[in-house]
Amino acid sequence: MNYQEILTAIQSELSKIPSEGEVASYIPELAKIEPTKFGMHLYCTNSGHYSFGNSDERFSIQSISKVFALTRAMSLLDEDLFKRVDVEPSGDPFNSLVQLEYENGIPRNPFINAGALVVCDILISNIKNPKNDLLDFIQELTNNKEISINREVFDSEKKHSYRNTALLNFMKAFGNIKNDIYLVLDLYIHLCSIEMSCKELSEAFMIYANGGRLLYNNKKILSSEKIKRINAIMQTCGFYDEAGEFSFRVGLPGKSGVGGGIVAIHPGQYAVTVWSPPLNPKGNSELGMLALERLTTLTGLSIF
Ligand code: DON
Repeated sequence: MNYQEILTAIQSELSKIPSEGEVASYIPELAKIEPTKFGMHLYCTNSGHYSFGNSDERFSIQSISKVFALTRAMSLLDEDLFKRVDVEPSGDPFNSLVQLEYENGIPRNPFINAGALVVCDILISNIKNPKNDLLDFIQELTNNKEISINREVFDSEKKHSYRNTALLNFMKAFGNIKNDIYLVLDLYIHLCSIEMSCKELSEAFMIYANGGRLLYNNKKILSSEKIKRINAIMQTCGFYDEAGEFSFRVGLPGKSGVGGGIVAIHPGQYAVTVWSPPLNPKGNSELGMLALERLTTLTGLSIF
């Protein structure tokens, strides 16, 4: 498979398409990002790295961090975790409150904001310094000690966290948040404000494509059984109320963030990341979805 040729074709094809998406502005710091940034990086299990454009530039990973938080929580806890957060697609926007009312404070899945907040609460209860722990974990996945947070993005989100604070209060009232809500919010925002490049995200997500093993030293990070489950949740819940559309168009497990990044994996084949900041109305990168649709079409490699 000539991945570089395919990526170059995607770049030239999509660079001509005028974007109708909008850069996220409800976190003011994110609104400052240049909307024309466009990069893609594919990391193949057998043949290494392929890329184009701004693939080495770090951006705010936002909700993509929810996959790392879930992975850490699943490495510490077994089935009990899923008593506090379900694994069903929500069909609602990522920051929606409605289902929590009639589902007794149990979030539909770990990738909507409510679910990720519960996962952060669990991490606080089980890890001494969860902020450092999660950064160490991502640094191990990427074999890169430089990965860190963007302080401006952290402060900016902290000042505008009305919905996430509401979600936390609501779940606390149902008894599904055990720690102080501001402690949980602080960890959640910390994780969302981590910055990584397309290359670094593809390297980190290689464990989901490689049965839980790091490619660079063959170390087993998580059991294949747990990796299978995380991939299933990415497939069904990784794109909120657009999860069906992403499956339909791309056909890979993946996760998006409002920083404009999307990561997807093909088990046994590759991890791929695309970054383009303008988002569609569901909060997913418009060009990112198109690029991944072209990738699975041109390579003939989707999981279906
Ligand atoms: O909590 C929020 O709203 C953001 N920090 C993350 C949302 C997000 O990335 C949703 N993804 N598409």
